[in-house]
Amino acid sequence: MLWKFILLIVCFKHCNAKTGKPNVLFLVIDDLRPALGCYDYPKVLSPNIDNLASVSLQFNNAHVQQTVCGPSRTSFLTSRRPDTTRLYDFGSYWRTHAGNYTTLPQHFKDNGYFTYSIGKVFHPGIPSNFTDDYPLSWSTPVFHPPTQKYKMAKVCPGPDGDLHMNLLCPVDVKTQPGGSLPDIQSAEHAIEMLKNFSKPSETQPFFLAVGFHKPHIPFKFPKEYLDLYPIEEIDLAPNPEIPPDLPLVAYSSWPRLLLREDVKSLNLSFPFGPIPWDFQRKIRQHYYASVTYTDAMVGKVLKQLEASGFADNTIVTLIGDHGWSLGEHGDWCKYENFEVVTRVPMLVHVPHVTDKQKSKQQKFQYMDALETSQSRTEKDLQTDALVETVDLFPTLSELAGIEVPPYCPDNPFKVDFCTEGSSFVKLLIHAGKKREITWKDAVFSQYPRPSDYPQMNTDLPSLKDIKIMGYTMRTNRYRYTEWVGFDPTNFKANFTEVHGKELYLHNSDPLEIYNVANLKMYADLAESLHKKLLAGWKGALPT
Ligand SMILES: *[C@@H]1O[C@H](CO)[C@@H](O)[C@H](O)[C@H]1NC(C)=O
Ligand SMILES: *[C@@H]1O[C@H](CO)[C@@H](O)[C@H](O)[C@H]1NC(C)=O
Ligand SMILES: *[C@@H]1O[C@H](CO)[C@@H](O)[C@H](O)[C@H]1NC(C)=O
Ligand SMILES: *[C@@H]1O[C@H](CO)[C@@H](O)[C@H](O)[C@H]1NC(C)=O
Ligand SMILES: *[C@@H]1O[C@H](CO)[C@@H](O)[C@H](O)[C@H]1NC(C)=O
Repeated sequence: MLWKFILLIVCFKHCNAKTGKPNVLFLVIDDLRPALGCYDYPKVLSPNIDNLASVSLQFNNAHVQQTVCGPSRTSFLTSRRPDTTRLYDFGSYWRTHAGNYTTLPQHFKDNGYFTYSIGKVFHPGIPSNFTDDYPLSWSTPVFHPPTQKYKMAKVCPGPDGDLHMNLLCPVDVKTQPGGSLPDIQSAEHAIEMLKNFSKPSETQPFFLAVGFHKPHIPFKFPKEYLDLYPIEEIDLAPNPEIPPDLPLVAYSSWPRLLLREDVKSLNLSFPFGPIPWDFQRKIRQHYYASVTYTDAMVGKVLKQLEASGFADNTIVTLIGDHGWSLGEHGDWCKYENFEVVTRVPMLVHVPHVTDKQKSKQQKFQYMDALETSQSRTEKDLQTDALVETVDLFPTLSELAGIEVPPYCPDNPFKVDFCTEGSSFVKLLIHAGKKREITWKDAVFSQYPRPSDYPQMNTDLPSLKDIKIMGYTMRTNRYRYTEWVGFDPTNFKANFTEVHGKELYLHNSDPLEIYNVANLKMYADLAESLHKKLLAGWKGALPT
């Protein structure tokens, strides 16, 4: 078995001597697209995540299964796709609504791990039964940073000297209620926890999940990070217009932005705006500053991981729960099926497997973007293989040498322990080798809609209001999407009731501007992609 071989590599001399198992640090960042230095954004400062990338395998084609927090998180934490969790909104708990599925942390807990959740890992509230699925998933009750309760509060200083509930919210942390910010509190708590894990009395390996809230809106962050991004250096999206051949059902509108006072005062027309160019620049600037702030929190946790003696026996993963549209296609936020929102950063650090080229000395020093501007020269391990966030559960199981969930059967609802993803341990082992191995030939996401034309609940319809489901598939060369009828009472899609089709040729149109689905010359291609979409994830398994 492959996993025994891997376990041997991970553990050679270094496994937690007391437990014989590697630990896991599972980092989730809310609304983070790959706007990171180590990906395709050289202007964004993310020295700590870049540093993690330098000892990890960096996935350049990782995709989530639905581009909104609750459904995406329930999906990757259960390793099931939204049509199996039946969570497309924030209104149900999979155990009572779909099936009593074993979660990723639960599986580790059941195998002797101490599992613990800090910040936003499960989507809080109904989707995780108001307990973040404690006690089934976690060894002790979870930690939520106390200052997160000010998410909708008027705490952002405006030009008028008053405090507002704004979208753009750089703050002086000392003056904030509670004297802190959520991600600072989560990082502090994680640091304390890692110190505790290193006490001699601790005998269990750990699975520590840390979920950071930024760069999710509001863009509330320590104001000094804004100085790193002079507004005159901020560009606009390269494709800031709604494409003429786009079926409108694909367009999300962004009513959630309109709730914020600073956006409200722009008197934008709904559903298309547009947002004035200068304000678009400000949104992008504040998103980047939020990313750099979050990167600093990641760096602090990784530094403590090393200080506590865990850098050599801990598998570290970092993902975004979905991307975020920064004006591409004239759209904002998530709630879509475009590449800018389905694609996320994914880094997987396996000690002695993904860091072999690097010096044995310090792995995770903290780097302060406010103090130094470090530029990177190293070429990291990267792969363009198509992977999905549902793959993490089987992958981490295999890496830890615990039972790997089998593939789910066609009717997955009665099976508690199975996966709709694939372990990509093989990619980790082959990383850096000249010969790229063949992998999945398609990955899948979906998004619901209440109507063809954008309305106030287009971004996030409740289950009962869903009338259309957009199924999208990314292959190495294409993105193909069908928006079809959907019945929320029996969860059935009707592929003969077509509301829109999209086909993008990624080799020539990576920004997904030209929808060629209705062009005669691509009819055969569209037909073959249609068949592949219907065959679904089981028709695209790694070979
Ligand atoms: C769900 O599964 C857990 C174990 O994974 C078990 O403890 C619990 O009783 C199950 N609940 C139901 C309703 O079957
Ligand atoms: C969900 O929460 C309710 C109320 O606290 C509790 O009675 C129930 O057992 C929980 N369900 C599961 C599966 O843990
Ligand atoms: C760390 O251990 C101390 C002493 O046992 C305890 O008081 C504290 O709550 C622990 N911290 C965390 C984050 O669990
Ligand atoms: C928005 O409308 C209000 C009230 O009509 C007006 O006072 C304000 O100047 C307008 N703002 C902009 C940016 O046009
Ligand atoms: C599917 O949609 C087609 C076209 O609108 C319709 O004729 C058919 O009755 C629908 N099928 C079901 C099962 O609803």
